[in-house]
Amino acid sequence: MKGVVLAGGLGTRLYPLTKVTNKHLLPVYNKPMVLYPLEALVLAGITDILIVTGGEWATDFARLLADFKSFGIRNLYFAYQEKPLGIAHALGLAESFVNGDKCVVFLGDNVIEGNIIKAKERFERMERGALVLLKEVPDPQNYGCPILDENGRIVRIIEKPKDPPSPYAVIGIYFYDPEVFSIIKTLKPSQRGELEITDVNNAYAERGLLEYEILEGWWGDAGASIDAWLRVNNLVAQTGANKLKL
Ligand code: DAU
Repeated sequence: MKGVVLAGGLGTRLYPLTKVTNKHLLPVYNKPMVLYPLEALVLAGITDILIVTGGEWATDFARLLADFKSFGIRNLYFAYQEKPLGIAHALGLAESFVNGDKCVVFLGDNVIEGNIIKAKERFERMERGALVLLKEVPDPQNYGCPILDENGRIVRIIEKPKDPPSPYAVIGIYFYDPEVFSIIKTLKPSQRGELEITDVNNAYAERGLLEYEILEGWWGDAGASIDAWLRVNNLVAQTGANKLKL
């Protein structure tokens, strides 16, 4: 399975911190943010990784990760997204890297206390389809939020709903079969002009091919706001991140 870390975008919600650097290079406690998704992938045994980034500071990632083998990464590649046209657009740039394998996509600003090993093992057993991770949160209106049916299956995901249909957020870690790249090619830009990852997940849901796991331990989207970034810093300081056992 290949790993794709998405670290493009403008990071406007963390401005002015992001005026002179990429959001994913900002510190989270004692490390640059992007090291957390990379560590989470390596901990799950995923060591062939592509980072998609963009903007003026893309080369700083290469300097930060020059000794990537010491982080446990076997092969590290980069792709450059010329414009922040959405998460699904950024993932589309990974097609030749993934090359017909399964992949796990990790948003570069997502940090977790535990690990993705259980989800990865379940996805490995799935013949096809996609698997997302859910977490109960106090503010599902700020994230992708699933509608669940009476059997607990995801019917559909609504991106940042005004009136959340469930208490869950779809977190920024997604497992996909190779079909994902055909799905991305059918997408149309949303109202905010982006190719949305939620539309990708809904294409799987419509086909009855979307599974989920509930993530154990805390989860944070360090890029959601300054307060979310501070919260994640404090959580890492208090409990640590990317733990094998909670
Ligand atoms: O964190 C989980 C949430 O992430 C999900 O619940 C939402 O469904 C999903 O849409 C996403 O929402 P955000 O509003 O947090 O996405 P954001 O624009 O912050 O992008 C997330 C990451 O993706 C960010 O760290 C950089 C990367 N990205 C984003 C865009 C728009 C790219 O690499 N390229 C892009 O064009």
